[in-house]
Amino acid sequence: MKRTKIIDVLDGAKVGTQVNVKGWVRTFRNNQFIAINDGSTINNVQAVVDFNSFDEKHLKRVTTGACISVNGEVVESLGKGQSVEIKVAELEILGDADPEKFPLQPKKHSLEFLREIAHLRARTNTFGAIYRIRHAMIFAVHKFFTDKGFFNIHTPIITGSDAEGAGEMFKVTNFDLDSVPRTEDGRIDYKEDFFGKETNLTVSGQLEVETACMALSEVYTFGPTFRAENSNTSRHLAEFWMIEPEMAFYELEDNMNLAEEFLKYLVGYALENCKDDLAFLDNRAQEEDKAKPQNERAEMTLLERLQFIVDNEFVRLSYTEAIDILRNSKPNKKKKFQYLINDWGADLQSEHERFLVEKHFKKPVILFNYPKEIKAFYMRHNDDGKTVAAMDVLFPGIGEIIGGSQREERYDVLKAKVEEQGIPEEDLWWYLDLRKFGSAPHSGFGLGFERMIQFVTGMGNIRDVIPFPRTPDNAEF
Ligand code: 4AD
Ligand code: MG
Repeated sequence: MKRTKIIDVLDGAKVGTQVNVKGWVRTFRNNQFIAINDGSTINNVQAVVDFNSFDEKHLKRVTTGACISVNGEVVESLGKGQSVEIKVAELEILGDADPEKFPLQPKKHSLEFLREIAHLRARTNTFGAIYRIRHAMIFAVHKFFTDKGFFNIHTPIITGSDAEGAGEMFKVTNFDLDSVPRTEDGRIDYKEDFFGKETNLTVSGQLEVETACMALSEVYTFGPTFRAENSNTSRHLAEFWMIEPEMAFYELEDNMNLAEEFLKYLVGYALENCKDDLAFLDNRAQEEDKAKPQNERAEMTLLERLQFIVDNEFVRLSYTEAIDILRNSKPNKKKKFQYLINDWGADLQSEHERFLVEKHFKKPVILFNYPKEIKAFYMRHNDDGKTVAAMDVLFPGIGEIIGGSQREERYDVLKAKVEEQGIPEEDLWWYLDLRKFGSAPHSGFGLGFERMIQFVTGMGNIRDVIPFPRTPDNAEF
């Protein structure tokens, strides 16, 4: 018999029809009720066995984690929360899971423990929900841009340039590390390497996607990016996915408008299309909240937070205005943001960002026009001589979710900047060429996909929203 997915059984299989269902056993209660999940939905189907019609030894193998196949009739269910169940006629064990050894038992496991068994955690409700939402968000990204007439461009993973100029790159080499060829003065001779030059894993596809932007006008890239920054935080991964749109003829304000529209669309899409999974995660978060002291509990539920994003305009604020607010604010009764006083030009720390978003405005904030010294070389210089047309979108509970800017399209200004920062021109000659031949004003931004998934799922640690997190000292799987 052809297999029916559990979502289709629960969502409309007619009572009286025969179905085959395959999946993993969640629980087996009273030698009668098997809860089976196949990942097509967070909901399990209940398969009911008549104990007397099966060999006891056979039923003993129906344990949490085992994979089974059942044939049977769809019948009305008297159980709570389900309209149908399956009356089992045949039951086959496809794969046993020794209950003495299978690490997932029908109880709540800590997220830390589940990280150690990343190869099995997709079988929990929490990770099943997160992976399905991740998929929906990937689809929503492509839909948003396709509906707007943008073109998806694949940018390279292996590159010869440092897009952010921050020196946080993983090297790519084909050398036998025990016998690396060296030049006469003792430096590594990359001319002898696979590509004939020094190469890295990309930190951003921006520079390359700009080349397509100067031809197809509105484009985006969505790919993996890599950063060897040693930040062991709940917001940083060494391997993460980034969505980077790039638009010709957009100025900074157009860029901010698109970023706000895009974020609202993604959150709205999840609310509309991931109802069961979000309801589960919302409930999970509320349970966790109850265990916390009153003053640490969330002001809004997950679903309320998501709806809030869709319904409210983001605050837009220049860096200079933000510094003024911070200078005059007390994050708690005693403390002021002391070290920012008279310190225009300093980069904002995450405590400043959180203060603006979570305490002062209680809304997402787009900060723009940052001091030129603290931002990347490609950002467009403003006429004040001090700032660049940069923008960061700050989200409650997350901090920076998007970073972007209008790009410097003037050849002379960009060339001077590249020289000033000591970036070798041989790495960026092609990027400068774009400003020599038919240059145009253009802008773009990068959304960190995992930070977005963190916001949508309400998960506190970024390691729990990507199937195989890469962080310092962690590349087990
Ligand atoms: O602000 P970033 O470094 O900007 C860029 O890379 C630009 N080239 C983007 C562009 O304009 N096309 O990174 C963009 C976003 C951040 O706002 C953050 O959401 C995410 O990428 N991000 C990280 N996410 C997870 N782990 C990390 N280590 C991240 N670093 C940045
Ligand atoms: Mg940034």
